[in-house]
Parts: sequence; C-alpha cells; structure tokens
Amino acid sequence: MRRFLISTACLLLLTGFTGTRPAQAAGHGPQQAVASEEKAAASPADYVGQDTCATCHEDVAKKFGTNPHSRLALEHAGKGVTCESCHGPGKAHVEGGGDVTKIVRFDKASSKQIDETCLSCHAGTHPNFERSPHAKADLSCISCHSVHEAKTDVALLKASQPELCFQCHADQKPAFGMPFHHPVNEGVVKCADCHDVHGTFQPNNVRATADQNAICTKCHAETRGPFVYEHAAVRAEGCLGCHSPHGSQNARMLNMPSINTLCNQCHSRVANHTVTGMGAGSDELQPCTSCHTNIHGSNINQAFLR
Ligand code: HEC
Ligand code: HEC
Ligand code: HEC
Ligand code: HEC
Ligand code: HEC
Ligand code: HEC
Ligand code: HEC
Ligand code: HEC
Ligand code: HEC
Ligand code: HEC
Repeated sequence: MRRFLISTACLLLLTGFTGTRPAQAAGHGPQQAVASEEKAAASPADYVGQDTCATCHEDVAKKFGTNPHSRLALEHAGKGVTCESCHGPGKAHVEGGGDVTKIVRFDKASSKQIDETCLSCHAGTHPNFERSPHAKADLSCISCHSVHEAKTDVALLKASQPELCFQCHADQKPAFGMPFHHPVNEGVVKCADCHDVHGTFQPNNVRATADQNAICTKCHAETRGPFVYEHAAVRAEGCLGCHSPHGSQNARMLNMPSINTLCNQCHSRVANHTVTGMGAGSDELQPCTSCHTNIHGSNINQAFLR
C-alpha cells in the first residue's frame, strides 16, 4: 500500500514532468497549496536540468545516481526526482555563477519549509507529520534523514536505529539495558516497530492499529486470540496493563516484581481460592501462573488452567 501511494505520486510526477516543480506535479492537496504559492513565480524556463547542476557539483551529482530518489526515476526513462525537485529552479543560481541566495539551501530553510518540500511528494505516506510531537518540537524531515549523506541503505537515515533515536532520547536508554528488555540494542526489534515517528493518532507516537494490542500481537501472535475464554484484563487494560514495553527489572517484562501482587490488584485473594487452599497470604505461595498458565486466554478452560 505504501509502495502504491508513493509510486502513484511518482507516476503523476513523471507524466506531468518536464522539469517543473514537484508541488505542481505531485498533486493539489492542501499540503501543496503553500509550497505552490511560494514558488508561484517559477516557470519551466527557470529550470536548467540535472545535467547542468552536475557540471559544477560533480561529486554530489555522481553520488545521487545511487540514491533511491534517482533509482526509481531512472527506471522511468531517466526522468523524475531531480536536483531541482528539492532545490527549486536553478537558472538564477547558475547565471549568478553559483549564487547561493538563489537556490534552496536546506541548512538555511525553516523546518516548515523543509517539511513542505518533502511532503509535496511524501504526504501520501506521512500525512500526520505536522501534528506529531516531533514536528511540534520543531524537528524537520532532515533532523533524521539526509538525502546526500545518509548512513543507512534503507530510509536514508542520518544514523541507524536505535542510535538515531538515542541521540535525542538518551533518557530511554536505561530501559533497554534492564535485565528483561526488548532486544532493541541487539538489532532484533526496532523503535519504529512500535512507534511511527511521523505522527499517529495515538499518544506517545505509538503506531495506530485498529486493535491497539495489535502493535504487540503482530509479533506475539500466541497472545492475540480470539479465545473462547478471554481474560478481560487483556482487552480492557491492553498489554501495558501488565507489561512494560521497553524493559523491566522483572521477568517477562512485567510491571510488578511479584506476579501475585500483579494479579491481586484486580483479584481479591480471599475470594479466589478458598477451594484450593490458596487465599490470604498467597503472595508468599507459588505464582498464580503456575496453575493459570494460559494467562492471556484459553480455548479450553475458563480459569486459564490450560
Ligand atoms: C556554474 C556552476 C554551478 C552550477 C551550474 C550550479 N551550481 Fe550550485 N553552486 C555553485 C557554487 C560556486 C556554489 C557555492 C560554493 C559551494 O558551496 O559549493 C554553489 C552552491 C550550491 C548550493 C548551496 C551549497 C551550500 O553549501 O549551502 C546548492 C544547494 C546548490 N549549489 C545546488 C545547485 C543545483 C541544484 C544546481 C542545478 C540546478 C546547481 N547548484 C548548479 C556553482 C554552481
Ligand atoms: C530529495 C530532495 C533532494 C534532491 C533530489 C537533491 N537534494 Fe541536494 N540537498 C537536499 C537536502 C535535504 C540537503 C541538506 C543536506 C542533506 O540532507 O544531505 C541538500 C544539500 C545539498 C547541497 C549542499 C551541500 C551538502 O551536501 O550539504 C548541495 C550542493 C546539493 N544538495 C546539491 C544537489 C544536487 C546537485 C542535486 C542533484 C544531483 C541534489 N542536490 C538533489 C535535498 C535534495
Ligand atoms: C519530487 C518528489 C519528491 C520529493 C520532493 C522528495 N522525495 Fe523522497 N522520494 C521520492 C520518490 C519517488 C522516492 C522513491 C520511492 C520508492 O523507492 O518507493 C523517494 C524516497 C524517499 C525515501 C525512502 C528511501 C528508501 O530507502 O525507501 C526517503 C526517506 C525520502 N524519500 C525522504 C525525502 C526527504 C527527507 C525529502 C525532502 C528533503 C524528500 N524525500 C523529497 C520523491 C520525492
Ligand atoms: C524523528 C525522526 C524522523 C523524522 C523527523 C522523519 N523521519 Fe522519516 N523515517 C524515520 C525512520 C526511523 C524511518 C524508518 C522507519 C522504519 O524503520 O520502519 C523513516 C522512514 C521514512 C520513509 C521511508 C519509509 C516509509 O515509512 O515511508 C520516508 C519516505 C520518510 N521517512 C519520509 C519522511 C519525511 C517526508 C519526513 C518529514 C515530513 C520525515 N520522514 C521525518 C525517522 C524520521
Ligand atoms: C533530533 C532529536 C530527535 C530525534 C533524532 C528523535 N527524536 Fe523523538 N522526540 C524529540 C523531541 C524534541 C520530542 C518532543 C519532546 C518530548 O516529548 O521529548 C520527541 C518525541 C518523541 C516521542 C513522543 C514522546 C511523547 O511524550 O509523546 C516518541 C515516542 C519519540 N520521540 C520517539 C523517537 C524515535 C523512535 C526516534 C528514532 C527513530 C526519535 N524519536 C528520534 C527529538 C528527537
Ligand atoms: C515493543 C514496542 C516498543 C519499542 C520497541 C519501543 N517503544 Fe517506546 N513506547 C512503546 C509504548 C507502548 C509506549 C507508551 C508507554 C505508555 O503509554 O506508558 C512507549 C513510550 C515511549 C516514549 C514516551 C514515554 C516516555 O517514557 O517518555 C518514548 C520517548 C519512546 N517510547 C521512545 C522509544 C525509543 C527511542 C525506542 C527505541 C530505542 C522505543 N521507544 C522502542 C513501545 C515501544
Ligand atoms: C517486532 C516484533 C515485536 C513487537 C512489535 C513486540 N515484541 Fe515483544 N518481543 C519481541 C522479541 C524478539 C522478544 C525477545 C524474545 C526472546 O528473547 O526470546 C520479545 C519479548 C517480549 C516479552 C518477554 C518474553 C519472555 O519470554 O520473557 C514480552 C512480555 C513482550 N515481548 C511483550 C510485548 C509487548 C507488550 C509488546 C507491545 C507493546 C511487544 N512485545 C511488541 C518482539 C516483539
Ligand atoms: C493480566 C496481565 C497480563 C496482560 C494484560 C498481558 N499479559 Fe503477557 N504475561 C502476563 C504474565 C503474568 C506473564 C508470565 C507468564 C508466566 O510467567 O508463565 C506473561 C507473559 C507474556 C509473554 C511471554 C511468553 C508467554 O506467553 O509466557 C509474552 C510474549 C506476553 N506476555 C505478551 C503479552 C501481550 C502481547 C499482551 C497483550 C496482547 C499481554 N502479554 C497482555 C500477564 C499479562
Ligand atoms: C487489570 C485487572 C486484572 C489483572 C491485573 C488480572 N486480572 Fe484476571 N481478570 C480480570 C477481570 C476483569 C476478569 C473477568 C472477571 C469476571 O468475569 O468475573 C478476570 C478473569 C480472570 C480469571 C477467570 C475468572 C473466571 O471467572 O473464570 C482468572 C483465572 C484470572 N483472571 C486470573 C488472573 C491472574 C492469574 C492474574 C495475574 C497474572 C490476573 N488474572 C490479573 C482482571 C484482571
Ligand atoms: C495451585 C494452583 C493454583 C494457584 C497457585 C492459583 N490458582 Fe486460581 N484457580 C485454581 C483452580 C484449580 C481454579 C478453578 C477453581 C474452580 O473452578 O473452582 C482457580 C480459579 C481461579 C479464579 C476464578 C474462580 C474464582 O474463584 O473466581 C481466579 C480469579 C483465580 N483462580 C485467580 C488466582 C490468582 C489471582 C492467583 C494467585 C494469587 C491464583 N489464582 C493462584 C488454581 C490455582
């Protein structure tokens, strides 16, 4: 679906493309409106084409040949995303012998201008960026991405995950060093598996799914259900009702050091186990889950004993 969206944008770009600005080519959504107004003065004659840029910026142009932005373009008869799609029309810059005030320089642009430029093509996949905590904190696309100096093969990141994230979120680092943690530093799980840093409708940039537990059950399918006998806590509280998502001092990344204390938050110990002899003082006895083994739900036993 993502691929489809971006290639649709790209086809629009290609079919309408004769060296015109991306805002015009990529569609006419509300995001494009501002960018279009800004560059309203530009006409096709203001564009010089990528080959001209290459005469003076040989190194940048050469490297750009392997950039995903030009890779896809090359598959479509050599047209598509070119220097001027991002840097704007270059005629005045060239005629000024490289006048830097006449070309879009990303290190001088505001976050908003940068985002508008990138979103003129990428709004289809990242429509919520402007409402994300990252945009609100005045980050822009190039806080995390670099077009010419990317350190990762995929997604053009300035650093690979999780280092990229820890540069600014050092306070999250200790959780991933706890005795029980998601293997993020080990490279097995990525921050972006659970977060969409481009903005979501959920708090904490957590990925939005129809069923909020699906963030977790896509990897932990055995907890997904549906079960004949659901544990109401899993639906009502979600996985985070009992687990810490990053890491924990407790086995199974539980929120509480003792399983029994965790369970007894909701289950009165006296009421439960007069039958089995469990009851008051059960904190000191064997863990509830030594009998209630299928704690996320069961298809055969109402008390999750199997
Ligand atoms: C006649 C030579 C020439 C051509 C052609 C040319 N440039 Fe430049 N460009 C320069 C010079 C000289 C500078 C200033 C020195 C520098 O920083 O590299 C410059 C600076 C820039 C900068 C700012 C660099 C910075 O460090 O901030 C960008 C971006 C840029 N050019 C993009 C382009 C693009 C895109 C094209 C094609 C549309 C292009 N240039 C065509 C000579 C040229
Ligand atoms: C997809 C958007 C995009 C395209 C296409 C693009 N650039 Fe850039 N360019 C950027 C961004 C963003 C920066 C800021 C540095 C970075 O992110 O790598 C930049 C920086 C530059 C700079 C400043 C020096 C530097 O590396 O920081 C020059 C010069 C430049 N680009 C030239 C070009 C030329 C020449 C082309 C075509 C061969 C081109 N750019 C294509 C987005 C783009
Ligand atoms: C003119 C349209 C256009 C503009 C403007 C543009 N992009 Fe892209 N971008 C594309 C296309 C086309 C691709 C290739 C899509 C693909 O491979 O599916 C792409 C791919 C990417 C990728 C994914 C690379 C990968 O490994 O899959 C990233 C990240 C990206 N762009 C970031 C940016 C950023 C940041 C900016 C602004 C500085 C920007 N783009 C501006 C059209 C554009
Ligand atoms: C806080 C860091 C951050 C910011 C800010 C950011 N990105 Fe990303 N972006 C990422 C990461 C990390 C990935 C890789 C996601 C993954 O591993 O699944 C990514 C992936 C992408 C991709 C390729 C895969 C996809 O999901 O489509 C595109 C395109 C992209 N970003 C564009 C943008 C644009 C455009 C902006 C600005 C509007 C932006 N990004 C802002 C971190 C960021
Ligand atoms: C350039 C600095 C920077 C980078 C890089 C960065 N972030 Fe952020 N992030 C921020 C800022 C600033 C905020 C908003 C203030 C805050 O809540 O800390 C934020 C907010 C967040 C939030 C929401 C926190 C909340 O309380 O709502 C999450 C989740 C997040 N970032 C995850 C990530 C992930 C995952 C990555 C790596 C892919 C990443 N960030 C990369 C600076 C950054
Ligand atoms: C297994 C899923 C998962 C992974 C992997 C993950 N997170 Fe989170 N993260 C969450 C969830 C869920 C929350 C919301 C916690 C809550 O609501 O109590 C959260 C909350 C956050 C917050 C905001 C809460 C706070 O403590 O300030 C930040 C920032 C954050 N994560 C950053 C990161 C970074 C950086 C990485 C990678 C190093 C990462 N996360 C990896 C699931 C994950
Ligand atoms: C991208 C896949 C992925 C996602 C998404 C994910 N996990 Fe995990 N989880 C893992 C992996 C891998 C491990 C480590 C398994 C191991 O060490 O055997 C793990 C370990 C765990 C453990 C400890 C298991 C044990 O046997 O000790 C718990 C509990 C857990 N995850 C809960 C969650 C919760 C809750 C979420 C959602 C917030 C979540 N996971 C999201 C992949 C994922
Ligand atoms: C009512 C509390 C509770 C809720 C809610 C809950 N869990 Fe658990 N989970 C536990 C307990 C307790 C254990 C440890 C079981 C044991 O030690 O035998 C556990 C163990 C796990 C394990 C380790 C493997 C296993 O099955 O023993 C994973 C993975 C896991 N949970 C994921 C999840 C996911 C994903 C969700 C949300 C869909 C979730 N949990 C919701 C209490 C809960
Ligand atoms: C957040 C609250 C919460 C937590 C924590 C919790 N539960 Fe539950 N549990 C419930 C609710 C609500 C029900 C449904 C009660 C009902 O139908 O009477 C339930 C049902 C059950 C049932 C089935 C009851 C029946 O009527 O057959 C068992 C067994 C059970 N829980 C055991 C546990 C164990 C063991 C733990 C600790 C690992 C635990 N629960 C943690 C809320 C919780
Ligand atoms: C020695 C095994 C064992 C342990 C340990 C155990 N249970 Fe049970 N539990 C059972 C059995 C067997 C049943 C079914 C009893 C019945 O059907 O009358 C049951 C039933 C339940 C029920 C549903 C019936 C009711 O009375 O409402 C709940 C809730 C429950 N247990 C919670 C807990 C909690 C909480 C703990 C830990 C504090 C725990 N159990 C520890 C064996 C155990």
